[in-house]
Amino acid sequence: MTGWTILIHGGAKTIAPEEESDNREGLDEAVRAGADVLAAGGSAVAAVEAAIRVMEDHPVFNAGTGAVPNRAGGIEMCAGMMDGASLAVGAVAALPLVRHPVSVAREVLREREILLAGNGALAFARERGAELKDDEQRQPVRAVVSADAACDTVGAVALDSNGDFAAGTSTGGLEGTRVGRVGDSPMPGCGFYADNTLGAVALSGDGEEIARTVLASRIIDKLGRMDVMPAIQCSLARLARLGAEGGAVALDRKGQPGFGHNSSHFAVALMRAGDEDPSIWLSRDEEEGP
Ligand code: GLY
Repeated sequence: MTGWTILIHGGAKTIAPEEESDNREGLDEAVRAGADVLAAGGSAVAAVEAAIRVMEDHPVFNAGTGAVPNRAGGIEMCAGMMDGASLAVGAVAALPLVRHPVSVAREVLREREILLAGNGALAFARERGAELKDDEQRQPVRAVVSADAACDTVGAVALDSNGDFAAGTSTGGLEGTRVGRVGDSPMPGCGFYADNTLGAVALSGDGEEIARTVLASRIIDKLGRMDVMPAIQCSLARLARLGAEGGAVALDRKGQPGFGHNSSHFAVALMRAGDEDPSIWLSRDEEEGP
């Protein structure tokens, strides 16, 4: 048995002062939901799903309820999960109507396929009894003022007391994009990755550039060779050279947590075995990190 850890993020973005308390409250509730699963002996996969489900229900985050419309006015969401013990991957892309895309991704994780998209993903979600939610019931708290501001995604990484890692993401997309546009979030090696021999990572930010730089793969590879903070920082530098913004949360193979971002804010929360309360940061500068 080892100690457990969960590290979550609510997006690399700009957080206006009036949005700070909603972000803190959403992170607090989400990380506690994941921690409760781990404290009860649950798996890292279950903890990641539990934390992301809370963020999908909180309208301050661009995922689930807080998803933003594409140029046709529709909602298309993406989510991904990975189990570091088996390297099983489950993901959904351009999925409409579902309340919890991450839970559909977890259902895919149990299958031979790794990624289902569009109508196929919706048919699978219905087959598995996923709860549906009309677009009219989604009310993002934050008015989207620019494409930049809408790049956030939620994500989580966890290590359970069995020594297994998991990573997950969920995003409500980018406002005004083409119908069918898919970013990094449902693609393993781009928006997320977990491998028990290396650790786990989850990303947020400019999806096209994160995919072009296979950023999760870069970070996870470096986790095998360097400490978690420099592994994240030098990978984000590659993203910055493309003029893009992002943020990453990661656990190295010993469970050491780290995060980094080049966006103005990055909403992050951490809980470890023995913690009564989470540590929460809205930017790297705010306080000393883990
Ligand atoms: N990072 C989320 C997206 O670009 O869709």
